[in-house]
Amino acid sequence: MTFNSADHKILVVDDEAAICELIKHLVVHEGYEASTASGVDEALEKLADDEYSLVISDINMPHKSGIDLLEYLQNNYDKRIAVLMVTAIDDRSVAIKTLEMGAYGYIIKPFDRNELLINVANALHRLQLEIDNYRYSEELEELINERTEKLKLAELEVRASREETIYRLAKAAEFRDNETAQHTIRMGYFCGTLAKEAGMSDDLSESLRLAGPLHDVGKIGIPDTILLKPGKLTAEEFETIKKHSEIGYRILSDSKSDLLNLGAVIAYTHHEKFDGSGYPRGLAGSEIPVSGRIAAVCDVFDALTSDRVYKAAMTVDESLAIMKEGRGSHFDPHLLDCFIKCLPQIMALKMKFVDG
Ligand SMILES: [Fe+2]
Ligand SMILES: [Fe+2]
Repeated sequence: MTFNSADHKILVVDDEAAICELIKHLVVHEGYEASTASGVDEALEKLADDEYSLVISDINMPHKSGIDLLEYLQNNYDKRIAVLMVTAIDDRSVAIKTLEMGAYGYIIKPFDRNELLINVANALHRLQLEIDNYRYSEELEELINERTEKLKLAELEVRASREETIYRLAKAAEFRDNETAQHTIRMGYFCGTLAKEAGMSDDLSESLRLAGPLHDVGKIGIPDTILLKPGKLTAEEFETIKKHSEIGYRILSDSKSDLLNLGAVIAYTHHEKFDGSGYPRGLAGSEIPVSGRIAAVCDVFDALTSDRVYKAAMTVDESLAIMKEGRGSHFDPHLLDCFIKCLPQIMALKMKFVDG
């Protein structure tokens, strides 16, 4: 910003009228606008009425001193006014102290014209720089806030669309099955809740909530004649159904997305049993990834407690009794215990995402 003395108004504060008038005369002659005050109280009134860039103040005045005025300006004008102190020679140490308090400079009486004007010009230049700097950082901060806000929104959109993609993919598989779309949603929430209860981090639990619905995505690859067959399946047909684990894994694995990779692991391992009697690989105990062990508990519970075309829902007690029989054989015993502990939350989710 270019410097123009006419843009700056100066307030001269001194209890000696002659000094006030002298300083005023010198700065007005230089093109500045100026007014005077004979003490701090009058100065405060003038400051309230008009906008000043610079205050030139005596230090020793009756009642309130120039230091009081400086302190007031520092506290109330947020560095938008420059202050120069004027003092007698024997007050030099006080004058130096005022610099620490935020004064831009000091002039020792008696002073000559040039000394005063150089100090005034310097103070106003510095003020302008500080104001520009302040505005620049404010604008920068605003810009950063704006960008951050936009990034957050973009991230939310990406999350939402990612979640929707997963959900629709899962739905595509479930539509061909007797299971419902609500089952896939519940699976996600159950898995997330059980993960949390088992002590997993918030992030991992949320990932399980998002990836859980993909457990049966491989059913896309099972022929309708088998998948929708109303009667009992032959042994051969059951072998075909079992392939949905591996097909799901093949659909989802080797993705750049951690979530789809997690979905792949869940699809591959949700029918493994803790004692090694499950499928497709007959993994046992901790060989089965914990996400698969979690999905196994949640999937069986939701299947048992839901109506299907071929069976009515069991009560929660009946279902849990059956599941407890599988504690340590079908299910990871610790995870089954955790599931029972968080049953109230599970039941609330079951009510919330009830089959339509
Ligand atoms: Fe399955
Ligand atoms: Fe399922």
